[in-house]
Amino acid sequence: METIKITQDVELSRIIQGLWRLKNWNFETINTVNFMHRCIELGVTTFDTAEIYGDYGVEEEIGKALLWDPGLRERIQLVTKTGINMKSPVRSYKIGHYDTRYEKIVASCKESIAKMNCGYLDLFLIHREDPLIDHDEVARALHDLKEAGLIKAYGVSNFDPFKFEALQKATGDQLATNQIEVSPVCFEHFNSGLMDVLQKHHVHPMIWSPLAGGLLFTSNDPMYVKVRRKLEEIADRHHSTPETIAYAWLLYHPVKMMPISGSSSLERLSAACAAFDVKLSHEEWYEIYIASGQQHLR
Ligand SMILES: NC(=O)c1ccc[n+]([C@@H]2O[C@H](COP(=O)([O-])OP(=O)(O)OC[C@H]3O[C@@H](n4cnc5c(N)ncnc54)[C@H](OP(=O)(O)O)[C@@H]3O)[C@@H](O)[C@H]2O)c1
Repeated sequence: METIKITQDVELSRIIQGLWRLKNWNFETINTVNFMHRCIELGVTTFDTAEIYGDYGVEEEIGKALLWDPGLRERIQLVTKTGINMKSPVRSYKIGHYDTRYEKIVASCKESIAKMNCGYLDLFLIHREDPLIDHDEVARALHDLKEAGLIKAYGVSNFDPFKFEALQKATGDQLATNQIEVSPVCFEHFNSGLMDVLQKHHVHPMIWSPLAGGLLFTSNDPMYVKVRRKLEEIADRHHSTPETIAYAWLLYHPVKMMPISGSSSLERLSAACAAFDVKLSHEEWYEIYIASGQQHLR
């Protein structure tokens, strides 16, 4: 497994396991522990979650796993996110909203660490753009958390190029990643210029929903079907699988993406890891780029 050093102190596995859907998997704690061990055996040592995942419940499940097997902590990198106040039976917000004020960021970080029994976070992200963001205040909160040893690195998620640049400046170039959606049906960040801004800053994005949340392989919508057929065709050429080709397509890009697999299946995670052995041609990358019909070359 390739790894990527996103800061001096933090090195992530290039394929990451996402735990957004963990509560749907109905795992007992021992299943979560075993699942994490199997991921590590595949070289997938980085795990992604967020304060709000599983109706504020996923971090607790991770915490139970780390209590069960405390040896796990030093073998993995934990990434979590803050900044969304989601309407939920376990929170008293009248409406869902964003909150990136100093007190929220600091309290949320401490709560995540307590829930996960993990001592510190390897990477802490601002989950979404906040129209009320005060860049200097956010930068100060993240800086203070790092100084206090509660987080090793920090970054953002779903930030467009302008918002990324603005916070990057306020932090003195300390944003270690931008976690964004990219897949053969999702091109927002190619079109916005974000890929170019990230390369300018030598920042490698984490990629969510790399298989469009499974729709690449389950949807009958013509757009998905066209992409699926193309992935199958290229997979045949490489004696591989369409899932592996989708990951190989992401890994090919020079920005050095770190895809987050959201599957509960270790077989599917292995298919993601197999992408390092596939050498797509430049032309094959473009075949997939235009397959959905959304991207046009001029
Ligand atoms: N920052 C953000 O705003 C944000 C937003 C969304 C997600 N994320 C992160 O990104 C991670 C990955 O996102 P994701 O879960 O959407 O990723 P994904 O890997 O694109 O989708 C995973 C889903 O697809 C299904 N799937 C995978 N391969 C399949 C196949 N061949 N046939 C049928 N179904 C298939 C999986 O089902 P099985 O479990 O049955 O394999 C699972 O339900 C999340 O866990 C989370 O950590 C971040």
